[in-house]
Amino acid sequence: MADHVEKVIYDGDPGHDDVMAIVMAAGDPHIDLLAVTTVAGNTTLENATRNALMLMDVMDLDIPVVPGCAKPLLRKLHTAPQVHGEGGLDGAGYWEPKRKPVNEHAADFLIRTLMESDGDINVVTAGPMTNLALAMIREPRICDKIKQILFMGGGRYGNITGAAEFNIWVDAEAAKVVFDSPCKKVMCGLDLTYQACLTEEVYKKIAGIDTKLGHFLYDILGFFSHAPVTKEEPGPAINDPCPVAYLIDPKVFTTNDYYVDVMTAPGITYGMTVLDYYRLNPWEEIPAPNVTVGEKLDFDRFWEIMLNAIKALG
Ligand code: RIB
Ligand code: CA
Repeated sequence: MADHVEKVIYDGDPGHDDVMAIVMAAGDPHIDLLAVTTVAGNTTLENATRNALMLMDVMDLDIPVVPGCAKPLLRKLHTAPQVHGEGGLDGAGYWEPKRKPVNEHAADFLIRTLMESDGDINVVTAGPMTNLALAMIREPRICDKIKQILFMGGGRYGNITGAAEFNIWVDAEAAKVVFDSPCKKVMCGLDLTYQACLTEEVYKKIAGIDTKLGHFLYDILGFFSHAPVTKEEPGPAINDPCPVAYLIDPKVFTTNDYYVDVMTAPGITYGMTVLDYYRLNPWEEIPAPNVTVGEKLDFDRFWEIMLNAIKALG
């Protein structure tokens, strides 16, 4: 029996690492996964929604999949076929899912579900924050109802430009809306998530899980392993499960609180997250810390949670 259970709405752009995050949330007893809301990012909204529904087929679960925004708030959409393939989840092939998406926009779903709640729902975002930002703009009162926002995004360096991480870079204006909100926020930036890499040893463990889900994950991660990684990394970063893992076990990574803001001005720093690490600026009024930032990952604990979740789903 789990010692605590956290209600979660997962908002993402599946996406190979989003799939791993959804599996972790669906398979771990500490998470009550209420819904998956989809957003354009890694791939088109249509593909992301299909991919999420395909995963529900593989897991044989009826978790609602709710489509949201097909493009960022202001910019045009930039996807990442070079990382996730043209379909957004290359590696295991594609099929027409048995299940259908919910006939409601993700922003409306977020507003309705959160406003009806007791304030006990966590929102995990692991794609561009367009859906959550739109919901906040449309109904600011949801900020009083969100237990906390845990997001994969940002960091001290970029992976799509020298300054910006992909989720923030696709829609920095949406990220700004969320960062400026009064909600409790937990940030899993690249500094943290690049520690959650898929090593050969871990990949072999997944290969040993002889289930429909195990085979599916083995196939898609086989494709994802070609994802561009710097020579220092022993494998592609499985970024998106980090915020979910923190809800399951807050000791899975260390944290510190910082003031964080996001650059929305056009140019080379667009989408950059700036963390005031040193608070050494006595001559200017630096705002108080507004984000809890993940720093050092317990690699073994992270993959223990991940592998247990895969096995639990059979
Ligand atoms: O920068 C990595 C993030 O961008 C991950 O969430 C990945 O799925 C993509 O959305
Ligand atoms: Ca993602």
